[in-house]
Amino acid sequence: MTIPSAPEVKKKDETERESESAEQVVTPWEVSAKDGEKIDYYKLIVKFGCQRLDASLIDRVQRLTSRPPHVFLRRGVFFAHRDLTEILDAYERGDKFYLYTGRGPSSEALHLGHLIPFMFTKYLQEAFKVPLVIQLTDDEKCMWKGLTVAESKRLARENAKDIIACGFDVTKTYIFSNFDYMCGAFYQNMVQVGNYVTLNQAMSTFGFSGTDHVGKLSFPAVQAAPSFPSSFPHLFSGMDNLRCLIPCAIDQDPYFRMTRDVAPKLGYSKPALIESSFFPALQGNNKKMSASDPNSAIYVTDTAEDIKNKINKYAYSGGQKSLKEQEELGADLEKDVSVKYLSFFLEDDSELEHIRKEYGKGKMQTRDVKNRLTEVLTEMVERHRRDRAAVTDEMVDAFMAVRPLPSMFE
Ligand code: TRP
Repeated sequence: MTIPSAPEVKKKDETERESESAEQVVTPWEVSAKDGEKIDYYKLIVKFGCQRLDASLIDRVQRLTSRPPHVFLRRGVFFAHRDLTEILDAYERGDKFYLYTGRGPSSEALHLGHLIPFMFTKYLQEAFKVPLVIQLTDDEKCMWKGLTVAESKRLARENAKDIIACGFDVTKTYIFSNFDYMCGAFYQNMVQVGNYVTLNQAMSTFGFSGTDHVGKLSFPAVQAAPSFPSSFPHLFSGMDNLRCLIPCAIDQDPYFRMTRDVAPKLGYSKPALIESSFFPALQGNNKKMSASDPNSAIYVTDTAEDIKNKINKYAYSGGQKSLKEQEELGADLEKDVSVKYLSFFLEDDSELEHIRKEYGKGKMQTRDVKNRLTEVLTEMVERHRRDRAAVTDEMVDAFMAVRPLPSMFE
């Protein structure tokens, strides 16, 4: 992914919205590019008012953690941030922070795009040796997807297994369902957040309208609350100044713009963010993976056969129509989904570079690239399936128990 360097972003009230460009829409509920085009991440950085994650910050992460930066950092999958510099400054002085991320449990099976924030969060947890809270927004999916309470809670537990399978450390990780955890301290933060956001602001930040149910209006405060350590007295009692870093896809930015506006008014520090681009559908960069079209994505429940068929049939190819043309012209790497997927999941930089070069100049065929991608994804999905099968109900209970984490900073 190439993201041109962003100009200095002007300071403004973060909940203020720039005039709506009809071109691309990115909200927590809708992601669509301008017809036939890709999401313009550069525009998004300017529109949202976040900062570009540049090479010097990535170097700094490497220095502070004494380990190579994650592929998702090296390859620009996580490409934007808010206040990451401040988090690193504080870390360098010896001040730790905690991580907060989440998932809306709307489906039983996760696809590869869903795993990205969790794979990355696991790396951050290990590299910085910090605690992590994971919010399962079963309440959100009742309100938005019309699921029953029981079904949302069931899905939350099922999804928790996939999350745990990513390898989180139970001594440093607290996973919670909103329905189960919501406690006095958390609720106090929600109410205080709510006191500082008007209906007009909520309508312009989230696109709420007069026909939305009032439950939805309260939800942004629910997603905001875990950004404040005082929402977790069993973890962070007496650590009200502990800073929070939120890894997420950039569509979640509106929630945290609001949170960051409100934080100082409550006497809290603003949560920092590290934000990713979206994982494209098999059909191409400008298409979204859709739950209603199982062929638009690879799921962690897909068999080796499914993976092979989906890639061969549906992965959009940037290769030329005939062998002859391919040899003459080479593939369009920008449009090729297999190359894109490999850039997320093939860890070996030199192999990726080799494929890009050879395929780009026509020395390699689409079939070869697809075969390599099939191998990489099959191995990954099979590993995930093994790890998930090893997650027991007792383990889920252990991660979700309200408990102190005595060695969370070690
Ligand atoms: N709203 C998110 C979703 O639908 C879930 C979520 C809750 C989340 N808190 C978060 C995502 C914090 C990232 C960071 O998936």
